[in-house]
Amino acid sequence: MKPTVKKYKTPIELSEAFAAELKNIMYERPVDRSNVNIVLSGGSTPKILFNVLSEEYAEKIDWEKINFFWGDERCVLPTDEESNYGMTKKYLLDKIEIPERNIHRIVGENQPEREADRYAREIDENILTISNGLPEFDIIILGMGTDGHTASIFPNKLELFNSDKVCAVAEHPSTGQKRITLTGKVIKNSKRVIFMITGNEKAEIVKNILEKKKGYEKYPAAYAFPEDGIYEWYIDEKAAKLL
Ligand code: 6PG
Repeated sequence: MKPTVKKYKTPIELSEAFAAELKNIMYERPVDRSNVNIVLSGGSTPKILFNVLSEEYAEKIDWEKINFFWGDERCVLPTDEESNYGMTKKYLLDKIEIPERNIHRIVGENQPEREADRYAREIDENILTISNGLPEFDIIILGMGTDGHTASIFPNKLELFNSDKVCAVAEHPSTGQKRITLTGKVIKNSKRVIFMITGNEKAEIVKNILEKKKGYEKYPAAYAFPEDGIYEWYIDEKAAKLL
């Protein structure tokens, strides 16, 4: 499935566009509807997005109507620089009015296997929309690594796209760092998948995946599209330079 590709000059412009879109989504949503369930990603671009959201949209978005989940987490304390939750807390959550009950973090300091099961249960208890036996998130924001990984599904673990579990324990192939990640089917089950990709170092892989160049099948990001939903790539000029 081909995404709708949205190109921006800089990561800030990209983040501004995404933030404006999020405001529209929240504004257009019928008043009586339940909260919008959004899965966040770690990485450098979301950090910029969180800055834009907290500086310009703290008062413009009804944060009470958003539930935040995470697509992956490093198995570290929330105070560790590597923590995706910690980064989000610092750049966004501490600066907006959002009830604690809306924040569903992966507890990176827990024992990984047990936490993967616990988080799957937390998702199960909170996401009421189920299809294909799996939770259906409204929006999943994803990044992509230079090796083509997304969430914490790395190229040596493509089988996570066939798993029937909601969450799994993953390991960074070079550092060995443990992580907890949503599995591929959960990503594919969501209503909207949005990739945010920036920087020169992503240009080649962006081209390979979008143009289905030889070998693109080895990249997990190539499979992370919704089976039945909206699929978008927000990319900056640098990441788009070979297209
Ligand atoms: C993580 C991620 C991961 C990330 C990509 C891109 O926690 O590592 O969720 O999938 O999105 O590695 O990261 P950058 O935006 O920093 O390149």
